[in-house]
Amino acid sequence: MAKVLVLYYSSYGHIETMANAMAEGARAAGAQVDVKRIPATVPEEIAKGAHFKLGLGAPVATVAELEQYDAIIVGTGTRFGRISSQMAAFLDQAGGLWARGALNGKVGGAFTSSATQHGGQETTLFSIITNLLHFGMTIVGLPYSHQGQMGVSEVVGGAPYGSTTITGGDGSRQPSETELAGARHQGELIAKTATKLFG
Ligand SMILES: Cc1cc2nc3c(=O)[nH]c(=O)nc-3n(C[C@H](O)[C@H](O)[C@H](O)COP(=O)(O)O)c2cc1C
Repeated sequence: MAKVLVLYYSSYGHIETMANAMAEGARAAGAQVDVKRIPATVPEEIAKGAHFKLGLGAPVATVAELEQYDAIIVGTGTRFGRISSQMAAFLDQAGGLWARGALNGKVGGAFTSSATQHGGQETTLFSIITNLLHFGMTIVGLPYSHQGQMGVSEVVGGAPYGSTTITGGDGSRQPSETELAGARHQGELIAKTATKLFG
């Protein structure tokens, strides 16, 4: 059974919701799945003042445990069109794993969210994917087998590079059923790919 880690950083909960959908899809494909998070780096009073979602559900990830997984799916909200500093700082600590080639050949994927439709989702996905390629990982995106990314009749996230959601400027929009279906589909494809490679 392939082991899959869904690793996320979320301030307001949108990425956490997408992470759980990603995990659902991977479990449906028969993988053993853990969902873990990167903690906030600001003090609690600032997090409260900025209306962060406190008490996020998943246990906190450690860099050392990345090696245990066959697939690692990384999600974080867009920060000025790129990966969040919290996730980047976590991945930067994987230099030792990189030096040993410990992540070479593992399966990877990316997902993100942004406030606006054109606020940098694709560049953020590539910011994550670039990092995973340096780790030697094989990337699985969100192919057009997720037909939900084809329509224009509603505001919808999702790109061939990875699942996404759009929060709106005030963060009030939650991931739609189409976007969650995209995350489930990508999670399923990543788990199936890892199972083919690692059994
Ligand atoms: C410092 C900062 C920079 C941001 N930069 C962007 C941006 O470039 N484009 C955008 O659309 N949204 C941007 N946002 C909004 C976040 O992407 C949004 O709050 C996040 O995707 C919500 O996910 P979460 O609920 O999981 O935290 C930014 C937010 C912060 C705090």
